[in-house]
Amino acid sequence: MGVFKPRANTIMRVVFVAVLLAPVALVTGLLLYARSPFFTNQGFQVLQPVQLDHRHHAADDGIDCRYCHDSVTVSPSAGIPSTETCMGCHSQIWNTSPLLEPVRRSYFEGGPIRWQRVHQVPDFVYFNHAIHVGKGIGCISCHGRVDQMPVVEQVATLAMEWCLACHRDPVPQLRPPETIASMSWSPPPNVDVLRRELAERYGVRNLTDCYTCHR
Ligand code: HEC
Ligand code: HEC
Ligand code: HEC
Ligand code: HEC
Ligand code: HEC
Repeated sequence: MGVFKPRANTIMRVVFVAVLLAPVALVTGLLLYARSPFFTNQGFQVLQPVQLDHRHHAADDGIDCRYCHDSVTVSPSAGIPSTETCMGCHSQIWNTSPLLEPVRRSYFEGGPIRWQRVHQVPDFVYFNHAIHVGKGIGCISCHGRVDQMPVVEQVATLAMEWCLACHRDPVPQLRPPETIASMSWSPPPNVDVLRRELAERYGVRNLTDCYTCHR
């Protein structure tokens, strides 16, 4: 008679298989996690001190993106508008709205509004708005239909593969300079010709060297 009963044998076998599979399951789990929207922040709504609704502020016939994000064409960061920019309108319109109380407090008592970031690449990644916008990549290519968002969400993964996919072949994403902030521009029928012209005019390169983004 053996030391183990047949039932104990079965249990041992299950434990043995589980121990073998554990590292595989852990690695798979981590990989899935790293690609999940939870980890990339995609579609995550950030609670802000003031509920600025982009649907009411950023329609094409409304306020231009660059009016509020006024460093987007000249510097690495797009910029978040100052309290003064808000008050340029809101000292006259909706000037008693309770929703705008934090804006008035910031304006009259000083101290900036503490906006929370939605998009953020890690410190070891270099990103620059001005070069993208200046070479014909519109806000919509990376941020989606912001004009339809009650609360701004990150639509892209911002993962390295996402950046690289465009850098390998940016031409299909190019648009004329006057449409850079437009959310409703639809490409004309001859768009391929147009994009090739734009690529030539801007001198668009395929930047895939590590040094482009890690410097
Ligand atoms: C009236 C001013 C105003 C206009 C116009 C405006 N924005 Fe904004 N935007 C803000 C403010 C304030 C924030 C910060 C609060 C928030 O995230 O909702 C913001 C946040 C954002 C963010 C997220 C920033 C982050 O932290 O990652 C993006 C992306 C953005 N705006 C894109 C756009 C685009 C694209 C347009 C034009 C279609 C536009 N905005 C028009 C004021 C404006
Ligand atoms: C160019 C003018 C303009 C600027 C600049 C502007 N807004 Fe507005 N805002 C409006 C208009 C117009 C409305 C009303 C929109 C509607 O209800 O259709 C509005 C509505 C709002 C409301 C809703 C008020 C309510 O009681 O429903 C909030 C909150 C708001 N804005 C916040 C901001 C903040 C924060 C800024 C600065 C980052 C800002 N706005 C800059 C024009 C502006
Ligand atoms: C090529 C992709 C790309 C394009 C095009 C682009 N953005 Fe961004 N945007 C990003 C990334 C990536 C971040 C995060 C940057 C960081 O962490 O430094 C960001 C961050 C932002 C922010 C947060 C604050 C800041 O100062 O950077 C705002 C606001 C914004 N973008 C607005 C815009 C607007 C408006 C346009 C069009 C005029 C635009 N973006 C075009 C990719 C893009
Ligand atoms: C939709 C297309 C697109 C996406 C997405 C995109 N880029 Fe770019 N990027 C471009 C184009 C086009 C250029 C300009 C190439 C040139 O200079 O000829 C550029 C240029 C750059 C440059 C400028 C290099 C220099 O010469 O200074 C950096 C840095 C950069 N991208 C980083 C990023 C990072 C980081 C991401 C992802 C978070 C990203 N890009 C996503 C299209 C894109
Ligand atoms: C167009 C921009 C771009 C280029 C070119 C690029 N990277 Fe990245 N890289 C990123 C971004 C954005 C991240 C952060 C997001 C992520 O981790 O996916 C990143 C993250 C990384 C990480 C962190 C680990 C990881 O995957 O999360 C390593 C390592 C790395 N890159 C190495 C490289 C090497 C090596 C090259 C050249 C073969 C390269 N990168 C080229 C944009 C770029």
